[in-house]
Amino acid sequence: MLEIRGLSAVIEGVQVLRKVDFALAEGATVALIGRNGAGKTSLLRAIMGFMTVTEGTIAFDGRPILAIPPHERPRLGIGYAPEDRRLFSSFSIEENIRLPAEVMKVPGAEIARRLEGIYQVLPELADLRHRAAAGLSGGQGKMAALARALMVGQRVILLDEPFQGLAPVLAQRYATALRALRDSHPEIALLITESNPSLLRSFAERAYAIERGEVTEVAGGLAASSLEAAGLH
Ligand SMILES: Nc1ncnc2c1ncn2[C@@H]1O[C@H](COP(=O)(O)OP(=O)(O)OP(=O)(O)O)[C@@H](O)[C@H]1O
Ligand SMILES: [Mg+2]
Repeated sequence: MLEIRGLSAVIEGVQVLRKVDFALAEGATVALIGRNGAGKTSLLRAIMGFMTVTEGTIAFDGRPILAIPPHERPRLGIGYAPEDRRLFSSFSIEENIRLPAEVMKVPGAEIARRLEGIYQVLPELADLRHRAAAGLSGGQGKMAALARALMVGQRVILLDEPFQGLAPVLAQRYATALRALRDSHPEIALLITESNPSLLRSFAERAYAIERGEVTEVAGGLAASSLEAAGLH
């Protein structure tokens, strides 16, 4: 469904992606593991169109998308939860979640239908829906960012280091929410970046490693033995 071939990108003269080949199949859960500065965010930003690509292709359902401007790409059904959550603090939580769909002029009845599905996956947000986003804890903010990505991500969800900074109990809760999402929406593909792969082990079927902008598939996925063989732990 999402096919990346030979993708390179440069920021301020530094090559941050080097001939990346990467594929995400419909309904797959894929981990992208790499240290700080490896290029995880750069790859997600390239998919969303926020990064100037110097060579290579990105295709979605076989259609090249590099010429599609960033504000149009969510229409493909791609939701993105950046590492910094960027919620609007003066808006309520529900207003934040609705916002990307309203920008895309999704009809109100469809927004309501999607919200219902989102609150089934993230029931704690239903209780907080009218609270201002300014009052959210870090963990609640991560949940709200996931919900916002779900609002437009009918096909693909890109999560940039969602577990970063979460206390263990909240990380477990977040992982449970992702498993609930897997069960209730098996057609949605998930691409999740992390520096520490252990939290993704219970649900990511495939793993790629990224180092200095180079991406390699980890043979055997996130099993401890394959991570060790790939120099990741
Ligand atoms: N705005 C920028 N200006 C200059 N260099 C940048 C910029 N953003 C990223 N870089 C560089 O691009 C490279 C890849 O960064 P990127 O943010 O994609 O890594 P990352 O894997 O997401 O790291 P982290 O785990 O810290 O989030 C790094 O060398 C980083 O220093
Ligand atoms: Mg990053």
